[in-house]
Amino acid sequence: MLKLEGISTQYGGVPMLRKVSMEIEKGELVCLLGSNGAGKTTTMKTILRLVSLVEGSIFFEGRPIHSWKPHQVVGAGISVVPEGRRLFPKMTALENLRLGAFSEKDEGEIQKRLETIYRLFPRLQERLNQVAGTMSGGEQGMVAIGRGMMGKPKILLLDEPSLGLSPILVEEFVKTIKRINEEGNTILLIEQNAKKALSIASKGYVLQKGEIVVKGNRSELFQSDLIQKAYLRG
Ligand SMILES: Nc1ncnc2c1ncn2[C@@H]1O[C@H](COP(=O)(O)OP(=O)(O)OP(=O)(O)O)[C@@H](O)[C@H]1O
Ligand SMILES: [Mg+2]
Repeated sequence: MLKLEGISTQYGGVPMLRKVSMEIEKGELVCLLGSNGAGKTTTMKTILRLVSLVEGSIFFEGRPIHSWKPHQVVGAGISVVPEGRRLFPKMTALENLRLGAFSEKDEGEIQKRLETIYRLFPRLQERLNQVAGTMSGGEQGMVAIGRGMMGKPKILLLDEPSLGLSPILVEEFVKTIKRINEEGNTILLIEQNAKKALSIASKGYVLQKGEIVVKGNRSELFQSDLIQKAYLRG
């Protein structure tokens, strides 16, 4: 469904991503692991066409999208839940959610999508009229994922959705992300917590200094020396 072929990027002439290749099939939950500054968010921004390419190709549903504009990429069904959530803090939770479905005019369809979000995050329903800026980090994270789903994307890119949450809430988020995937959604999950991400992903990639250093299915990644050393022990 989404394929990156040998993409390289740079920031102000300094190379960042180097020949990154990844593939996400329809219905899959794939994780992209890596420590701070490895290039995870850059990879996501590159897919969204917010970062220019030095080389390489990006295909979505077989179509080359590397020369598209960001709004075309989003319009084609690639939705992003950005790092740090980026809600509109003065708008209510409901207004933020509805923004995710701005291109949908059918009110019945919008209500149906909202119902799906409430089912996934029951706690949101009690706080729909609260301004987003006053919500807890966990609640804001729920609104951000909900907003990302409101556009009914073909693929959802989640950039560290559980960053800064308590262990219990991280656990809850991970379960909900798995459930969203099981309901038929294709997901690319960016995470630093390899253990958590690999507990739900079918396969994954590890970025280090802009390069994919390990890739494989869940058990291959669990067994890899790098993952063992860098992410699972200590
Ligand atoms: N616009 C920019 N201009 C210059 N350098 C940038 C820019 N955006 C990111 N970088 C640099 O590129 C590197 C990768 O950043 P990126 O945000 O992709 O990392 P990340 O893997 O998402 O890290 P984190 O887990 O901390 O979010 C970092 O060294 C960062 O400082
Ligand atoms: Mg990042």
